[in-house]
Amino acid sequence: AAIKKYQFDIQVKNVSRLCHAKPIVTVNGRFPGPTIYVREGDRVLINVTNNAQYNMSIHWHGLKQYRNGWADGPAYITQCPIQTGNSYTYDFNVTGQRGTLWWHAHILWLRATVYGAFVIMPKQGTPFPFPQPHQEVEVLLGEWWHADVEEVVKEGTTMGLPPNMSDAHTINGKPGPLFPCSEKHTFVIEVELGKTYLLRIVNAALNDELFFAIAGHNMTVVEVDAVYAKPFTTQAILIAPGQTTNVLVQANQVPGRYFMASRVFMDVPLSIDNKTASAILQYKGVPNTVLPSIPQLPAPNDTEFALSYVKKLRSLNSQQYPANVPLKIDRNLFYTVGFGKNSCPTCLNGTKLLASLNNISFAMPQIGLLQAHYFNIKGVYRADFPDKPPTPFNYTGVPLTANLGTATGTRVSKIAFNSTVELVLQDTNLLTVESHPFHLHGYNFFVVGTGIGNFDHDKDPKNYNLVDPIERNTVGVPTGGWTAIRFKADNPGVWFLHCHLELHTGWGLKTAFVVEDGPGTDQSVLPPPKDLPPC
Ligand code: C2O
Repeated sequence: AAIKKYQFDIQVKNVSRLCHAKPIVTVNGRFPGPTIYVREGDRVLINVTNNAQYNMSIHWHGLKQYRNGWADGPAYITQCPIQTGNSYTYDFNVTGQRGTLWWHAHILWLRATVYGAFVIMPKQGTPFPFPQPHQEVEVLLGEWWHADVEEVVKEGTTMGLPPNMSDAHTINGKPGPLFPCSEKHTFVIEVELGKTYLLRIVNAALNDELFFAIAGHNMTVVEVDAVYAKPFTTQAILIAPGQTTNVLVQANQVPGRYFMASRVFMDVPLSIDNKTASAILQYKGVPNTVLPSIPQLPAPNDTEFALSYVKKLRSLNSQQYPANVPLKIDRNLFYTVGFGKNSCPTCLNGTKLLASLNNISFAMPQIGLLQAHYFNIKGVYRADFPDKPPTPFNYTGVPLTANLGTATGTRVSKIAFNSTVELVLQDTNLLTVESHPFHLHGYNFFVVGTGIGNFDHDKDPKNYNLVDPIERNTVGVPTGGWTAIRFKADNPGVWFLHCHLELHTGWGLKTAFVVEDGPGTDQSVLPPPKDLPPC
């Protein structure tokens, strides 16, 4: 194992896209930010120096950070932000994980431009459990706003307005040639006929679940969220914000130029999609003058494709990479995902939208929850988050105004060390049109079941997949449906659980698990590093 050191300078830089230049927050002046390359077992030291006029905090999405939430990064959950002029070194070990993950700013909406890939190679001498690719390529899917993202946040969260949609999707920061002034802002992968490529695809978009496809080429999915999957071949993948997907692509078509594209998936498209990003897969020796072939993507509301795609995802579950699904459950949690309106005298309509779990909309604390937990500081959070909704109702039936009332509070759940937990996330029909990608920090979990309609506590568990369910860190809760996940609470600390649609997170669709220390000397939260940013 090696020590890998990185320097991240947070700086504002002028970047131009779609015929406009604007200042954006970057790492080292790059957009997207640099890729981190490590090997399983390495220790990573990333010094973040904040030279921008924004508070900053960086999250290493999907890294488990065993006993070491101090390096996890979500602002006010595990640390206070790094203030302008200050530095903080994220210091962590990469243990028991290999594959594609990513990193992003975890404060307000700064992740719009502050993100990059985090690639973990298997241990030296350990091959991939699939054919060795000729080349590996990172493909980061994102969004681009003309407007200042801070303004967009204000509209969405404090004025009670639905926020502006982004103006374009991007592939590695580039919208592609379908947009004005974007001919040179087009990402190109050059391939050789007969060779195989590994695409490490990340959905870094703020608010959009995406389909991604390559014209004329199938993809073989081999990994999601840094967990090997049973390979399957598909024309398109579905990927939610926060998720990663590794696919193998064979350059086996008539040499030419082929579009790769990403486009929104939404059960009820809110408006005509004009944001499709494209990039080009170009065979060696083919001149740039040859026009690319148009890719085929599922329709924006192709829920059927989405559901059947999700069903195909299975853990590899081999001897070397077994799926250790918890079979006996110590703690059953049932959280409704809902929306409500609260009165807001300063808002345009007198009300503003709130999102909630079990009717509780999460209020951000003023200091990190992990500090409060570790140093036993009272009054920061309440550990009384309910295990189930206050009153059961027909979750996916006609919306009842009685269910729109939402309480706010910094409320979390205490989880006993090493207990096995099942969490069912139930979407409700109240004002929702999209599925919710839920992300749990500090853990992977197994997705043992998912379905449309109300979760049936008696019947649905009988149909769980407890053999080879996919293991991941971010999972979609379908519109008007439910998803059941299981994990073993073996990582002590405070771990954020939230919808990875930034808009919904902003509305309060989040809470945290406080996983207690175990009895062993190596089962408790490590002491905080000396340079942890002060509050
Ligand atoms: Cu990628 Cu808490 O997020």
